[in-house]
Amino acid sequence: MAAPPSVLHTGLPESLLSDPVAAIRGPGDLVRFYRELAGSAPLLVVTNREPVVWKGGAERFALPPGGVSQTIHRLLCQVGGRWIALRDSGGPDLLRIPGEPGAPGYRLDRLEVPSALMEGHYAGFSNGVLWPFFHDEEGRIGEPPNALAAYREVNRRVAGKVMDSLREGASGGIRPGMIWVHDYQLALVGQEMRRSGGALPPLAFFWHIPWSAPVGGAPPPRWLFEVVTGLLSYDQVGFQTELYRDRFLETVFSLYGSRASWDGETLSVATASGVRRLHPGVFPISVDPDHFRMMSRDPAGMLPALSLLSDCGLAPGTPSGGYLISVDRMDYSKGFLERLSLMEALYENDPSLAGRLALLQIAPPTRLSVEAYRRYAEEVERRSEALNRRFARGAWRPVVTLSRSLDPSLLAPLYRLSRGCLVTATRDGMNLVAKEFLASQDGGSAPLFLSRHTGTAMTMEGLSLIDPADPALSARIVAQGLSMDGRIRERKNRQALADLREHNVYRWMAENLLRPLSRTSKEGALLFARPS
Ligand code: F6P
Repeated sequence: MAAPPSVLHTGLPESLLSDPVAAIRGPGDLVRFYRELAGSAPLLVVTNREPVVWKGGAERFALPPGGVSQTIHRLLCQVGGRWIALRDSGGPDLLRIPGEPGAPGYRLDRLEVPSALMEGHYAGFSNGVLWPFFHDEEGRIGEPPNALAAYREVNRRVAGKVMDSLREGASGGIRPGMIWVHDYQLALVGQEMRRSGGALPPLAFFWHIPWSAPVGGAPPPRWLFEVVTGLLSYDQVGFQTELYRDRFLETVFSLYGSRASWDGETLSVATASGVRRLHPGVFPISVDPDHFRMMSRDPAGMLPALSLLSDCGLAPGTPSGGYLISVDRMDYSKGFLERLSLMEALYENDPSLAGRLALLQIAPPTRLSVEAYRRYAEEVERRSEALNRRFARGAWRPVVTLSRSLDPSLLAPLYRLSRGCLVTATRDGMNLVAKEFLASQDGGSAPLFLSRHTGTAMTMEGLSLIDPADPALSARIVAQGLSMDGRIRERKNRQALADLREHNVYRWMAENLLRPLSRTSKEGALLFARPS
């Protein structure tokens, strides 16, 4: 039997050979890992939304609070490359995003799409059809005429922009180690690129949202075959959980029958344009727990957090200052109505909680160009007002809603100061709020009450799970959790934090990059070729 190749054969450090990603804890580790695998090859990232917000003036642009996009942004700043996104703020088509001194930074190519086309793509098909379908909210599907055509056209234009980047002359073209496309808004980009012909770098795709189980008996929606076939064009398609990956495979089998096979690693499908072979992988997305731990104690965020709480009538240390926190875009999949029912059941079961334990909701509006979202926001407002009328005690209100997004530096201390966190999503690809809350507890004992329908609940152990579909049961679980011995709660939080530190967002990125990059890297190829 041949001996396994030694470190000398690959030139890779021992840590990479024993377990390539387990040691990754922070941005520096990730950058080193990327360099070891890809050398000087840049990375090309493609998203629907931009990683920066144009401000104009001397400042030029600001970074939005978004965790995952900011992690990818930091990696690109360090390793260099290009980011292609649909433009959603003013300014020039091309922005040079600087890195730290000594780091290359990257180029952001912003694709301008006429507003009517964008409306059909974003509000029409992406969020009027795909989002409700994959969140099992088929009753909310509303497909305006030409929405699918707009989605196809925007995907085609994005693919064209990517191909231009690869083709441009020596001055502007890049030869990326891989191309990483994100999310349901851009499922068809890879297929459009392949239609242009020619060799391409490895194409990876990450599907951030859930994947629904195929509906037995009922015919699939007419667009499903097209979206699935589009995904088959990538070399790797990442999902948040095994359940979503397996449902995707089931969907492929239901659409392609015996033309599809899977050996546990490679999915092979005989499509009209030839046999496609790809890796459908499971990569649960995460946060930077150390960043949240530090922010949750930082006086720079703590002082404004304390003053915000006082302004909301929830001054810490006062009898009426206790609160459960929820942080979600105003999206029906986040279970706002179910959460209000849960709070109602909590007060009905224990009226003494009224006046002592409020719900603080950070709920920025979202996707208001989609009618289902506008109607939902109105209904949540009506129900919140009714609950507030019923359980008000003097100036105290049970539901305090801030309809804006807050910077993570303010959110982390708000998580820390709370009595607990309520995550009531009816379906969620992962749910990073749950992870941010656990990281911000760091030694604290406030419990997380987590919907079992989230990717976080499916991929982390030892958490207190609730079911938003059963508010009465969930209210009992919350009441029990709040009265549990503080030492037990603290221990559970510590275990969860240890898990998060191991499975952090940098490791998530490394795992996503590993296989596609290995195809273009001699060392990486050896890494995978070595006998086990
Ligand atoms: O979770 C899916 C997702 O599209 C994310 O990629 C994005 O950050 C979030 O929803 C917000 O969506 P939008 O870009 O429509 O505001």
